[in-house]
Amino acid sequence: MALPTTKRLLISISFLALMSLSLNSCYKDNEEDLYGNNCQTSNVSFSATIQPVLNANCVSCHSGAGASAGIRLSNHSEVSAAIDGGRFIGAIKHQGGFSAMPPSGPKLTTCQISQIEAWVAQGKPNN
Ligand code: HEC
Repeated sequence: MALPTTKRLLISISFLALMSLSLNSCYKDNEEDLYGNNCQTSNVSFSATIQPVLNANCVSCHSGAGASAGIRLSNHSEVSAAIDGGRFIGAIKHQGGFSAMPPSGPKLTTCQISQIEAWVAQGKPNN
């Protein structure tokens, strides 16, 4: 019988289409977790999280006697002082009225900026 076979086929095809749609949305959820929700902002560690980001993106210009803008970012007390200077967060968030940092190359990621802000809100612990 031709008709039921066609119907069965159509049902299988729609089932497969639905399956692939839901698989696709699972994939998107995971991607969101990786780049958004999975950004750890509680108990941020200065030594494990903050200093490595600054070493990789800032310290080449902001260390030693000739540090750019006199801002040094090589250790906890220097970073703490730079934050107290009041120009740090605006600079890394590329806000108007601040020099965007790093001056060339990519901006820090949303997660890195959130972690720095969370660490500051947690009282800049030397942890
Ligand atoms: C290629 C060299 C270079 C790198 C890398 C760099 N900076 Fe700078 N930074 C400068 C220079 C030069 C100035 C001073 C001139 C200016 O304000 O543009 C400056 C200024 C600043 C200021 C003062 C900004 C203001 O608006 O007063 C802050 C805060 C700062 N940098 C933080 C950072 C941080 C944090 C990073 C890493 C995310 C970083 N910088 C990476 C060269 C650099």
